[in-house]
Amino acid sequence: MGHPVLRKIGKTLTEKEIKSEEIQRLIVDMHETMIEYEGIGLAAPQIHESLQLAIIEFGEDSDRYPGMGAQGLTVFINPKITILDTQEQGFWEGCLSVPELRGLVYRPRKVQVEFLDEKAKPQKIVAEGFLATVIQHELDHLQGTLFIDRLKNEPGKTPLAFTEEYARYWAPEEGDDVGELDD
Ligand code: NI
Repeated sequence: MGHPVLRKIGKTLTEKEIKSEEIQRLIVDMHETMIEYEGIGLAAPQIHESLQLAIIEFGEDSDRYPGMGAQGLTVFINPKITILDTQEQGFWEGCLSVPELRGLVYRPRKVQVEFLDEKAKPQKIVAEGFLATVIQHELDHLQGTLFIDRLKNEPGKTPLAFTEEYARYWAPEEGDDVGELDD
């Protein structure tokens, strides 16, 4: 956080650029970086590439996100997001670009995304719940937005916490109506 590239709107990619060796290598590098940092998503601006490119992947067997389902590696290029249900859901979000902090963010619970995949093929996903929030967090990065911009400060409520205090006071327990995620 603080690097200007995180606040820029990423450049869209042409079909030719997507198929280039350079972008194909970048996607592989992003995937490796995401795994190394144990994230479930990564956007190109986070590795200082100002492009409309983000990836998401998480497994069913995740200890950190039990019961959240699974999402195979999905590459979002030039994504267009549409909100399908304005009812909001809360997740405590973390971000590789905002280390040591957690924020409680409310986002629409259902979205549709149209995008190109790594082969420049048009794709469409309708996402609800956890995946809807992960997608919105990642695609925000392509518009220069971080989760901290989405916090709502309300008297008596804590929307932002250090990791240590989060674990001590705020980590969701079974039955809570908020979840958590870390990109
Ligand atoms: Ni992030």
